[in-house]
Amino acid sequence: MCGIVGVTAERNIIPILLEGLRRLEYRGYDSAGLAVLGGSGRLERVRTVGKVKALADAIASSPLQGSVGIAHTRWATHGLPTTANAHPHVSRDGIAIVHNGIIENHEALRAGLLDLGYSFDSETDTEVIAHRVHHHARSAPDLFTAVRRTVADLHGAYAIAVVAERDPECIVVAREGCPVVIGLGIEENFVASDVAALLPVTRRFVFLEEGDVAEVRRLSVKIVDRAGRSVTRPVRESELPADAVERGPYRHFMLKEIHEQPRAIAQTLEERVTGARLLDAAFGPAAAAVFDRVKAVHIAACGTSFHAGLVASYLIERYCRLPARVEIASEYRYRQPVITPDTLFVTLSQSGETADTLGALRIARKAGYLSTLAICNVAESSMVRDAELVLLTRAGPEIGVASTKAFTTQLTAVGLLVVALAKRHGLDPDAERTLVAELLHLPSLVEKTLEIDPAIAALAERLVDKRHALFLGRGPLQAIALEGALKLKEISYIHAEGYAAAELKHGPLALVDEAMPVIAVAPNDELLEKLKSNLQEVRARGGRLIVFADSLAGLASDADTTVVHLPVAATPLQAPVLFSVPLQLLAYHVAVLKGTDVDQPRNLAKSVTVE
Ligand code: M6R
Repeated sequence: MCGIVGVTAERNIIPILLEGLRRLEYRGYDSAGLAVLGGSGRLERVRTVGKVKALADAIASSPLQGSVGIAHTRWATHGLPTTANAHPHVSRDGIAIVHNGIIENHEALRAGLLDLGYSFDSETDTEVIAHRVHHHARSAPDLFTAVRRTVADLHGAYAIAVVAERDPECIVVAREGCPVVIGLGIEENFVASDVAALLPVTRRFVFLEEGDVAEVRRLSVKIVDRAGRSVTRPVRESELPADAVERGPYRHFMLKEIHEQPRAIAQTLEERVTGARLLDAAFGPAAAAVFDRVKAVHIAACGTSFHAGLVASYLIERYCRLPARVEIASEYRYRQPVITPDTLFVTLSQSGETADTLGALRIARKAGYLSTLAICNVAESSMVRDAELVLLTRAGPEIGVASTKAFTTQLTAVGLLVVALAKRHGLDPDAERTLVAELLHLPSLVEKTLEIDPAIAALAERLVDKRHALFLGRGPLQAIALEGALKLKEISYIHAEGYAAAELKHGPLALVDEAMPVIAVAPNDELLEKLKSNLQEVRARGGRLIVFADSLAGLASDADTTVVHLPVAATPLQAPVLFSVPLQLLAYHVAVLKGTDVDQPRNLAKSVTVE
């Protein structure tokens, strides 16, 4: 989704702005731009459609310098991805603004501004903010005050950064619903929507709270809260290595992240289990008392994280004997769920900023749940701050839009939650030891599973010319089939659907013929024989099967069926993680063969901060 970078310094800041935007590319965007105050004291703006490289090329062909400025990558919401709609937006040349999020009352504001004589060059909701700042700046003593008056007019979610010719050393930022971070340098300061943008220039960060407005100057930072009180927010030192967002020797971030999974899972387990026992403090000091009382679980999440939630609902019912229900967050937030006493609300999110999941969490906090738990990969995210209990997945930054290591670390965290709840609902210490040992084996089992990559790369050739594919699984592996289909469609643009295997004969079987690849995941569990019958139904219709099977599943290849055995045997707790890996690799290789933009697939954003 959109990204913001800003710098106030003595040196020329163009390279810092461009590098910051490059580091935010993974979030997904369709146009880019920047505005700087140079030696002339005038604002200069460059905007291009497409990649940051196009912006860099435009600047290289018409060089530009400046010491204060803001830059942006835009993911279109209001208006097409055109140069006119790209940010920064300006008002009467003297004020420039970049904005993430959505202004819900932009139409009313636009009408009022037209009455005041302002004209509009774009279809965006952002341009109204620029003109509102300009309008307030006429009577305000400084830019900071003008922005504070402007945000009081806005309804919606936003992160904004503003620069103005009248106050040439300063950037004013404001946060409501979208993250803003201030990076502290030596005699220079920075702003961004994501620390990743600033890692080459600083490790010291201040995170704005909801409702904060800040004035960032080269030598000072001033912050006020929603009520206008001057506040100090803590300075945090980032532990992320500067190369955390580098591709290294891998052709794509997605491939790098697939291969990082053993380490990411190991890190997610570290300090949370010891001696084959789950530590009581794994979910924080308050968790034990909450878990003792839990009688039901509600889960809300989006996309891949929803699939992790679906796995969780199966495993919690199986191991903890607690009713567990999962919802797509955008649906959850607009229905009236029945909340029985002592229900725990759980969100799963890689970014911790997904608007619908965050919205669901905020509703849940007021809805009478026993407590709220966020399973999240970003420590500084809104969800982590808003939830009462938190378990951080430690996948490290995930750059590829297609979620891989974030998903399998979520599944690992789900495993920890299952053990934590089961312990308090009758799981004996021996059984706890067994489950924890299964989790601790995951990194080496994933490592081993990655060895079948060459076989999967070869299989990808069979899918590259297909227009459709079906993915099948049963039980918790139904969620992995859904996830396999999502991975394939989002990066290869092949239409794919995931189904509970037995559901096929209730409709989708009509699609099956020799042109339809059907991909199944076959763990060696109590549903294996039933799955085999479902696969026979596909074969009987001429379908071509690719089956990823447990090493003990006893399946064999023939003319219609290609069986790829995982080199491991998986328990029910391990199977969702292990069977995710071949489906990730399959989608990756198909996308590479098709020549799509693997890490930044068309139309998608990494972090979906709008509803
Ligand atoms: O950051 P989140 O986990 O909340 O994001 C939710 C979805 O947007 C995300 O999982 C999306 O479906 C993935 N990019 C798919 O690979």
